[in-house]
Amino acid sequence: MSQERQRSPVRIGLLGCGVVGGGVLRLLNENRSYLELRVGAPLEVRHVLVRDPKKPRVAECRAEWVTTDPEVIFKDEQVDLVVEVMGGETPAHSYLQRAIAAGKGVVSANKLLIAKHGPELVQSAISRRVDLAFEASVGGGIPIIRTLREALASDSVSNVHAILNGTCNYILTRMRDAGLGFDQALAEAQKLGYAEADPTLDVDGHDAAQKLVVISMLAFDARIDPAAVHVEGIRTIDSIDFRFAERFGFTVKHLGIGHERGEKLELRVHPALISKHSVLANVDGVLNAVFLNGRALGPCLLVGRGAGDMPTAVSVVADLVDVARSRLEGEPGLRTRSIQLSDRALVPRDDWEPRYYLRFDVGDHPGVVGTIASALGGEGVSIEHMVQDGRASTAGDVVPVCIVTHESREGSVRRALETISRAPFMKSPPRLIRIEDV
Ligand code: NAP
Ligand code: HSE
Repeated sequence: MSQERQRSPVRIGLLGCGVVGGGVLRLLNENRSYLELRVGAPLEVRHVLVRDPKKPRVAECRAEWVTTDPEVIFKDEQVDLVVEVMGGETPAHSYLQRAIAAGKGVVSANKLLIAKHGPELVQSAISRRVDLAFEASVGGGIPIIRTLREALASDSVSNVHAILNGTCNYILTRMRDAGLGFDQALAEAQKLGYAEADPTLDVDGHDAAQKLVVISMLAFDARIDPAAVHVEGIRTIDSIDFRFAERFGFTVKHLGIGHERGEKLELRVHPALISKHSVLANVDGVLNAVFLNGRALGPCLLVGRGAGDMPTAVSVVADLVDVARSRLEGEPGLRTRSIQLSDRALVPRDDWEPRYYLRFDVGDHPGVVGTIASALGGEGVSIEHMVQDGRASTAGDVVPVCIVTHESREGSVRRALETISRAPFMKSPPRLIRIEDV
């Protein structure tokens, strides 16, 4: 490649200029000369697509770049790379399809889009011999996609346990350390700007599930329908569960979990009890973490800021550098071609076999514990610990009975819980939290 070609700029169309897009423009500006050295050519923004042209933007966003018309970007043949940081499924999906079809390199931070349409977009990018990079779609600034795709290209992953949602991790940390209730901790997370305006995606686990699906593409070469992944959020976790968890030597974390089980995968997103000595136990506040086991490598932990303008921009701009460089070097699409996906069946929920923490809010009568133990025993579920907290002082009082089981099939545990739920002493539905050895 001639020096002449190396010096001509790589031109960028930026779709979106909100939290992440603003961070991208700041980082491109702050690290301009350093990035030029890394790429071998200047990175030049040509257009910035937004919805509302009157909204104030970061100082680095020049007025002449701003447009509300996507055609300005798609009709500009000089645009080499498209960076999608607008979010959502529509119209982002069709914009990425168009960019790939036009032979442009593409970078996206959009976990929803990659989880749902990643396999199709990867296939189009491979056919068109262009790059599709999506580091920022998982774990903000944590380089998990690159680690799986490049550093672990020589190994295979047997399991992943990950803290993938900063809002959930913040809420659980505050419930544990400051004794806050769920609503209070959520209000704090919203005030601090961690949670979305509608925090359902965060606290009901869907954000983490999308990220787990994207991780599974790289860790397990798996094409997975996000709707097939079992998802639970953190709304049912009570402050009393933290007290019992502590007593049994655990802490509560919201995890995305992936296990390879022969040809199948066990994928689940839910709150879990993990040992207080686990490497994930002290990953607190808004931090994210991915703890994986490589068959040859053994354990590997990545921890960092999973959200926010600058951490996320670090991942987006790192992808930009990669995609720009491979384009300049005449090898576009090389990294995307290393993503080879196939359909993987999921292990049905009834066949999972972790340990369980079970809490029963009961009337304090003789025979209650015996009935619970016998329902569990009747389904072959063995008990490791059992604790009743205090005693009722009046007839209507409710007391919690907590049980930790041995490893048991989830189908058996659920059948036992259905039987127990029907007992007259039960004052509310039983609570189940899975225990993960991590
Ligand atoms: P945001 O602050 O809401 O910004 C979205 C931007 O896209 C805005 O500039 C908006 O324009 C523009 N936009 C949205 N829909 C559009 C449309 N139909 N046409 C034109 N412009 C449109 O979102 P964000 O937090 O930066 O997130 C962007 C993406 O990054 C999402 O996929 C998100 O999941 C992902 N991500 C975010 C974080 C984070 O910490 N925020 C971390 C990792 C990944 P206006 O400004 O005019 O409304
Ligand atoms: N709302 C997300 C979180 C932002 O709390 O982790 C990053 O995807």
